[in-house]
Amino acid sequence: MYKGKARAYTNIALIKYWGKKDEALILPMNNSLSLTLDAFYTETTVTFDKTFAEDQFFLDDQQQSASATKKISAFLDLIRAEANCPFAALVESHNFVPTAAGLASSASGLAALAGACNEALGMALSPEALSRLARKGSGSACRSIYGGFAEWQQGTDTTSYAIQVPSNQWENDLSMIFILINDQAKEVSSRDGMRRTVETSSFYDGWLTSAAADLQTIKQAIAEQDFTALGEVAEANALKMHATTLAAQPPFTYWSPESLRAMDCVRQIRQQGLPCYFTMDAGPNVKVLCQKQDEQAILHALQSNFAQDQLVLAHAGSGLTALPVNDHATTIIKE
Ligand code: ADP
Ligand code: DP6
Repeated sequence: MYKGKARAYTNIALIKYWGKKDEALILPMNNSLSLTLDAFYTETTVTFDKTFAEDQFFLDDQQQSASATKKISAFLDLIRAEANCPFAALVESHNFVPTAAGLASSASGLAALAGACNEALGMALSPEALSRLARKGSGSACRSIYGGFAEWQQGTDTTSYAIQVPSNQWENDLSMIFILINDQAKEVSSRDGMRRTVETSSFYDGWLTSAAADLQTIKQAIAEQDFTALGEVAEANALKMHATTLAAQPPFTYWSPESLRAMDCVRQIRQQGLPCYFTMDAGPNVKVLCQKQDEQAILHALQSNFAQDQLVLAHAGSGLTALPVNDHATTIIKE
């Protein structure tokens, strides 16, 4: 029996990944850049054993459907090939993040799974190799290998992975406040939404051109620790990503009326002199980027518009972490 466990935190892209140039290999159309956060994460344990007849996938103690398990099996096949392991696996995962609600469960989920397999099979993969592996489970997962800022460089199969963005630890001066509008699974997954957009949106070319420029702007903002430049480009980039969905066929949006209210609220707080900017992913929830020194004042202002339990304060999170396997009945016995 080979068993390992890992924790990965979610990351929120400030320059979004939106569209693939290769669906099978999960190669993106554009580079993206994210901040890993401490409020939401996944812990996953994986056990490979010769007595297992087939892969099984439990998420939050519920056995998952055949189709969800098939997706995990396809990822495990990559690991089995790389580690030369012939055994089926039991995957037991706990999401400390709502699943499929636009809060990046796929990022923490697949990064944690890659980390757990690396531990279980003693693969001793480098961060780049782990990032490349996690990418093949879910694109955004490649950035959750790192704490702080990470950039996913689009590359080719072997060169497409995320790297740490040097920041002089500036991320420790930043905060993100999540405004939870709906934590239920969305109707259009990120995967389907970006595919439809690439294939049909007349705005997609504009997105690609401006994403490249936005990436340069944000890297300069991080190098200069310029919060206004960081916030402005992150907010504009998110709006452009969401604009592409309106021009898709058929059109769709991840925004709800409450999302629009939250975005307005952020603009108002900013006009009142507290610097803050929003970003949104493939779901209705709104994330507010601010400086740590202003987080309490901004939280206070948001509290007059949203219920206490809708607001979650996050700071920069750490990278992928191996955890001890604490189930004594099945301690690792490497054969
Ligand atoms: P989100 O906004 O939460 O990332 P996505 O639609 O991008 O939503 O991804 C959700 C998908 O990610 C799930 O349907 C599942 O396939 C996968 N996923 C989420 N959590 C886990 C986990 N803990 N382990 C493995 N896969 C997971
Ligand atoms: C809007 O990484 O979940 O959050 O690669 O198909 O699994 P797949 O998609 P996923 O998409 C994330 C999209 C996004 C933007 C981002 O995180 O960069």
